[in-house]
Amino acid sequence: MDHRPIGVFDSGLGGLTAVRELMHLLPREDIVYFGDTARVPYGGRSPETILKFARQDMNFLCSFDLKAVVIACGTVSTTSLAALRREYDLPIIGVVGPTARAAARCTKNGKIGLIATAASIRSGAYEAVVSRENPAGRVYGKACPLFVPLVENGRFRVGDPVIEIVAGEYLQSMKDEGVDTLMLGCTHYPLLSDVIGKIMGPGVTLIDSGREAARALKTLLTERDLLSDAPQGDTSYFVSDTVDGFEAMASLFLRSDLKGMVQQINIEKY
Ligand code: DGL
Repeated sequence: MDHRPIGVFDSGLGGLTAVRELMHLLPREDIVYFGDTARVPYGGRSPETILKFARQDMNFLCSFDLKAVVIACGTVSTTSLAALRREYDLPIIGVVGPTARAAARCTKNGKIGLIATAASIRSGAYEAVVSRENPAGRVYGKACPLFVPLVENGRFRVGDPVIEIVAGEYLQSMKDEGVDTLMLGCTHYPLLSDVIGKIMGPGVTLIDSGREAARALKTLLTERDLLSDAPQGDTSYFVSDTVDGFEAMASLFLRSDLKGMVQQINIEKY
C-alpha cells in the first residue's frame, strides 16, 4: 500500500484524458495534475526545448512526494521519456508504449493510422513499438498541428465548422489508406473522438492515448503493490497561465465543477 499521490502532466488540457480514466480506474488515488498552459503547444518545438520544459514540469511535480508519474503528453513521451527515466528516481509511464501496443493488438488488416503532433511524428517512436509488437503492422502517420490550439480554445465539438473542416482534411489520407485502427497519439485528440469517429466511420477503432497510459499505470501500481486503500482520492490541479479558461474547459470535460480548485504556478522557477 502507498498513499502518496500520482503526478500527471501535459502541455495543457490534453492530459485530462488520462486523469479522467485514472479517476475511473483508480478512484482511491490522489492525483496532482500540471498543465503547462503558458507554453502550450509543445508539438512544434525542438526536442531540446521539449526536454527542457519536461524537466521543469517534472521538477514541479516532484516537489510533491509522488509514487509515480504519468507523462500524459505524446510529445514529451516520444521525445524525452528515456532521458526523464534516467534522471528521476521513480516509475514513469508515457503514452507511446501502451498506445502502440494496444493498436498493434487491435488491427486486423495491419494498417494502423497515427495522428499526433509534428514532434511525435518526426520521432518515429510509435512505429518502433508497433514493429516490435506486430511485425506485419504498418503505421501511416500524419501530423495535425492545428488540433491542439483548436482543442485548447474549445473548438472540439461535432457541428463546429472549423474543427470539422480541419479534421476532414487531416484525416483524408488515413481514409484513403484504409486503416482499421487509429492511434490518437496526442492526448488532446481524444477530446475530438466524436469529430474523428464521425469522419473515420464505425469500422475504424480509435485508440485513446490518455486512457491507455492510465491502464498501464494501474497495472504497474498493482504489480508493485503501490495502490492506495484510502476511501476516496483527491485531485489537485495546477497550471502555468491564468486559471479561468482551464477551469471552464476542465469542468466541462471532467463533468465536475472545478471553479476555485485550480492554482497558477510559475513554472520558470523549476
Ligand atoms: N497533449 C500533447 C501531446 O500529447 C499536446 C502537445 C502540444 O502541446 O503540442 O502531444
